[in-house]
Amino acid sequence: MADLRTPWFYLTTPIYYVNDIPHIGHAYTTVAADVLARTRRQEGEPVFFLTGTDEHGQKVWQSAERHGLSPQLYVDRILPRFRDLWSRLAISNDDFVRTTQPRHVKGVSEVLARLREKGDLYEGSYEGWYCLPDERFWTDKDVENGLCPDCHRPVERISETNIFFRMSRYQDWLVSWYESHPEAIRPESRYNEIMGFLKKPLSDLCISRPKSRVPWGIPIPFAPDYVTYVWFDALLNYITVPWSLGATPEEGLSRLWPAVHLIGKDILTTHAVYWPILLAALELPPPRLIFAHGWWTVDGEKMSKSRGNVVDPVALVDRFGTDPVRFFLLREGQFGQDVDFSQEALINRINRDLANDLGNLLSRVTAMACRYFPETGVARPASGCSAELLEAAVSLLPPVRKRTESFEFHRALGSLWEFVAFLNRFVDVRAPWVLARDPERREELSAVLYDLLEGLRLVALYLAPFLPETAGKILESLEVPAGLSLLSYAAHGRPGTEALYRVRPAGPLFQKRDAQGNPLAEEGEKPRKAPRTETAEPSAGKASPETAQSPPAPTSPSSVAEAPEGPAAPPIDYADFQKVLLRTGVVREAVPVPKSKKLLKLSVDIGEAAPRTVVAGIAGSYAPEELVGKTVVVVANLAPATLMGVTSQGMLLAASTENGVSLLTVDRPAGPGAGIR
Ligand code: MSP
Repeated sequence: MADLRTPWFYLTTPIYYVNDIPHIGHAYTTVAADVLARTRRQEGEPVFFLTGTDEHGQKVWQSAERHGLSPQLYVDRILPRFRDLWSRLAISNDDFVRTTQPRHVKGVSEVLARLREKGDLYEGSYEGWYCLPDERFWTDKDVENGLCPDCHRPVERISETNIFFRMSRYQDWLVSWYESHPEAIRPESRYNEIMGFLKKPLSDLCISRPKSRVPWGIPIPFAPDYVTYVWFDALLNYITVPWSLGATPEEGLSRLWPAVHLIGKDILTTHAVYWPILLAALELPPPRLIFAHGWWTVDGEKMSKSRGNVVDPVALVDRFGTDPVRFFLLREGQFGQDVDFSQEALINRINRDLANDLGNLLSRVTAMACRYFPETGVARPASGCSAELLEAAVSLLPPVRKRTESFEFHRALGSLWEFVAFLNRFVDVRAPWVLARDPERREELSAVLYDLLEGLRLVALYLAPFLPETAGKILESLEVPAGLSLLSYAAHGRPGTEALYRVRPAGPLFQKRDAQGNPLAEEGEKPRKAPRTETAEPSAGKASPETAQSPPAPTSPSSVAEAPEGPAAPPIDYADFQKVLLRTGVVREAVPVPKSKKLLKLSVDIGEAAPRTVVAGIAGSYAPEELVGKTVVVVANLAPATLMGVTSQGMLLAASTENGVSLLTVDRPAGPGAGIR
């Protein structure tokens, strides 16, 4: 048998039953396939990515009956739910197969004719147990207490004549093929599972259903009282589509075959046993690879309609957005293992990984580039990027690709986020706001910002297969001319590629959420406008707007506590001191308050579900960028006060020094929300 190795990367998802609306498990396989397809395209490989719907069979027919519709009308009505979900999730499939399409029906008839001609089909009678939901036959040995060994629902006794496919003929061949291709099923545990399964003799596969029992399926031309078994019909989609694409079926298939199949662990046997055998009977090589991923559970339980715990991916995308959902699906767990869904975990990923780590990085860096180099932009230094950036890029970015290709999506994103963390540390350590104070260090400042902008461009390149919309936004604010669709690792993967950055200040990339998943109010605001110009500031001598609008609290012109001046204050009891609730807080975001010289608006995490907004009069002493990540001390139970139209929910402690204010911080690392005594 010829082992065709085409230059094409042909990738498939299962075709989903349209007996019900899509759920998060469907979204999982399809998003993973999409990331693989996009990665390969960025590698310059021609990709053919196929998904679709499985529209025949008893389950679909029964759902249609329940809705009082013909099966075709019923599937036509459910179909848009799937198509709509894939467009909301930015799925870039190249074709969409429906098993009711004439091209597929024609292909299945062709297969039936070929198998019959080869003598691989025979008519036989069958008596045994039948599981309706799984549409599978079981023997007496398999069934315990009248229940299906797979789904544990009641089975029915059935006796009928059917058409069988001689699977058993090919068992030895399949075992020896897998022995010499142990990498053909991933993860390894699934390969072992199939090898174990193949130790027992295979029964022949019943490929027909009498029309009297299941009237909804592809007719069998030489057996008018039967339709094809839905699984037999469904698996064939992987070749009926390529058959329909070429000048001749053979030409179409030889261009693409063999495929990589992504599936859930529930449908491993059909794909890793029935399917390669069917292919062998058709004298075609087995799939290139089958990867079976784990299941999404909810609070540790299987998702099912009867439990009422099915997570609706459309509702998730509507609420949280395309990219956050894509990110969560692939970052949260290992692809081959089961993963548990919770809204809390999703919100954490959005707030921490996306909004804090990535979103803040982009807005800090673009704001500084605009503020410090409004006229000239940030040019590549003669010596290119720093050795530090090069080293981080070379060690952390190629693994993103490698891990994606080996289906370790969560580790791929982990590597990419290590690079994001490197860039965040680079901002803190190189402190551009300090360099900006010294006119002699302009060159150094420009080089630091160039490194950061290049770093962000590379983040976008490696992020693009996972979060295409976000990568597009990053490139847009960096004003990188190459559009998203042209991205290629070879052409754009080297640090130091761009000659000049004239960036736009980026608005928030992601909306932060409170514990209930509602957008946090502060995120709804307009992106900050940088650079600030002198003329936008209130002119000296005039009463500044903040004085006019400050709350009456005498010791707190803004929310920074200053030491009372003059004679020592009278002693207080410990009980009085205890009334003041002090907490450590980590500054997540800092932006100037518009039209104010003094005030900064901070978002401070004090260990509560949502960060607090604190308005602090420290703009004269701190640049906003310098504050992000700092641990400060917050008076957490101060009554809220509105300053320049922004409500402050706390106050920072600071020392007044000759050179302005100096924020109190902690001597040793402490997370947000530590008590202070
Ligand atoms: N129609 C068949 C597949 C035929 S392929 C030739 C089928 N369809 S299905 O609608 O039931 O979808 C099955 C696929 O959905 C699984 O293989 C998996 O990809 C995905 N998932 C369904 N439930 C899932 C979870 N709870 N978790 C993760 N994915 C699961 O079977």
